[in-house]
Amino acid sequence: MPKELTGKAIALAINKVCKQLVAEHNLKPKMLLIQVGEDPASSYYVQSILNTAPKLGCEAELLTLDVNCGQDKLLRIIAEANQNPDIHGIMIQKPLPGSIDDSAVNLSVDPNKDLDALHPVNLGRILMENEVFLPCTPAAVYYSLKYYGIDPKGKHTVVLGRSNVVGKPLANILLWKRPFANATVTVCHSRTKDLAAICRSADILISAIGKPHFVSADMVAEDSVLIDVGINEIQKPDGSSAYVGDIDYESCAKKAGAISPVPGGIGRITTSVLYLNLVKANLIARNINKYVDEYIDVIFSENYKKL
Ligand SMILES: NC(=O)c1ccc[n+]([C@@H]2O[C@H](COP(=O)([O-])OP(=O)(O)OC[C@H]3O[C@@H](n4cnc5c(N)ncnc54)[C@H](OP(=O)(O)O)[C@@H]3O)[C@@H](O)[C@H]2O)c1
Repeated sequence: MPKELTGKAIALAINKVCKQLVAEHNLKPKMLLIQVGEDPASSYYVQSILNTAPKLGCEAELLTLDVNCGQDKLLRIIAEANQNPDIHGIMIQKPLPGSIDDSAVNLSVDPNKDLDALHPVNLGRILMENEVFLPCTPAAVYYSLKYYGIDPKGKHTVVLGRSNVVGKPLANILLWKRPFANATVTVCHSRTKDLAAICRSADILISAIGKPHFVSADMVAEDSVLIDVGINEIQKPDGSSAYVGDIDYESCAKKAGAISPVPGGIGRITTSVLYLNLVKANLIARNINKYVDEYIDVIFSENYKKL
């Protein structure tokens, strides 16, 4: 296992699977990407999604709505996209303005077009281990474990954060009865007592809380695996800004067996998972029943042989 669990090779491997499936089945996957308002961080991410589409033989159409467009208009647009056979997947950029109810939006997307896997049907499918789509960030963590041959089977795996987007689905994926899952999972949150002691007992510690450098070296066990999902903007003393994770990389890397960097770790993989979901959605629309992860396993297994 390498010390630094970088995301680039994993993203490229997932992209390869997308391209292979598009070519093999002559697919024309099209995503509708909806952004409400023009928050700069969201616009940056949206642009990187748009730039990726042609590289993978996919199409992505952006619809930007005014920040005051209102929930009804957004739901109407989603309902139309659900009915449009030329659109295979829908992604709604978050966060949405406070006037729009997130859960109403999540519920309005056709579960077979739900690229973010936030519809309760898709979250339920994850729980029951008959998933179709995986939410992008939890999937990125799962694929990192697979790619680097880190099997959490029977290991104490601590997830910091219990959001519906990251912590909860990730904890449920880690509980699956399959390779690269089967973990003994503890989920911590802002009301957890003795959080540092729980972290120290982790063989694998995954942080998704959104607090810069929250996890310090005294909170991690020797030789443990540390995976950092957090992306936090900080101001440097010279006035410029930088992105850092939840884990204090410098001090923790000296103690850990392996650690994912920020940037260049989990975040580097999420756009590839989004397109993998789009390709899956196009396969569903064409009634092609394919277990896409088998393709991923073949490509990843080449990597474990090298480790
Ligand atoms: N790498 C990626 O592509 C990617 C994608 C999505 C998100 N992220 C990043 O991941 C982080 C988490 O995102 P999110 O959407 O899950 O955030 P979120 O919805 O704000 O949830 C944060 C979670 O952390 C918990 N928490 C906050 N402060 C804590 C503390 N001091 N001690 C223990 N638990 C604490 C919260 O507990 P309560 O539930 O008790 O409030 C909550 O469960 C953010 O930095 C975000 O930018 C990265």
